[in-house]
Amino acid sequence: MRIIRTKDYEDMSARAADVIAAEVILKPDCVLGLATGSTPIGAYERLVERYRAGELDFSQVISYNLDEYRGLAHDDPQSYHYFMEQYLFSHVNIDPANTHVPDGANEDVEEATAGYDAQVAAAGYPDLQLLGIGNNGHIGFNEPDAAFSKGTYCVNLTESTIEANSRLFESADDVPRQAYTMGIGTIMRAKRVLVIANGEKKAQAVHDMIYGPITPSCPASVLQLHPDAIVIADEAALALCE
Ligand code: GLP
Repeated sequence: MRIIRTKDYEDMSARAADVIAAEVILKPDCVLGLATGSTPIGAYERLVERYRAGELDFSQVISYNLDEYRGLAHDDPQSYHYFMEQYLFSHVNIDPANTHVPDGANEDVEEATAGYDAQVAAAGYPDLQLLGIGNNGHIGFNEPDAAFSKGTYCVNLTESTIEANSRLFESADDVPRQAYTMGIGTIMRAKRVLVIANGEKKAQAVHDMIYGPITPSCPASVLQLHPDAIVIADEAALALCE
């Protein structure tokens, strides 16, 4: 794993945007694996700025998002479909037909998950997979478990994730209890992964991802086995990695 330490969130976002921009410049028809959550917002804002400045062209880029809440309509403001439109897709020239987010509105689990996996595979898996990390070490919505997951599946969210994500909903009761997420096997097939993390709340998870044992009880720890994993994190998130 390559670790890039940054001063703060702004710095982390700028560097992450640089890595994503480099991918788009070097391979205009790249497949990007995209993530949601508060962590990538700053990087997406910088990509939009660079697009507006005429430095980036997304017209041939293909994207696959990691995950989506099960049971939310695409136009629900809490859905990851909505998030991606809000922070990236509606601001750049990516072709909507080339953007993919698991279909949380489709309650048929088999159709929503197997279909998504087949699409990611047909696209050849992401050239670059962006990842945030949950306080409990989850990536995508792959929660701590007894075994690593394989392809896209339907997951029951843990209390810790429901609690952490409730800040974006009116109350914890409004947080969906299930989500569709790319599995660890799918994530590991990306040619390069870029994990971003900031803030002290992530310090334990970041430590366990980099230095802990490789175990499904910290799903991100599997990235130690990835041949091209980059972590860009601020000082607070790396506090336990001195
Ligand atoms: C959510 C998402 C993850 C994300 C994580 C961290 O549960 N499913 O993809 O990485 O939360 O979110 P945040 O960046 O808001 O801390």
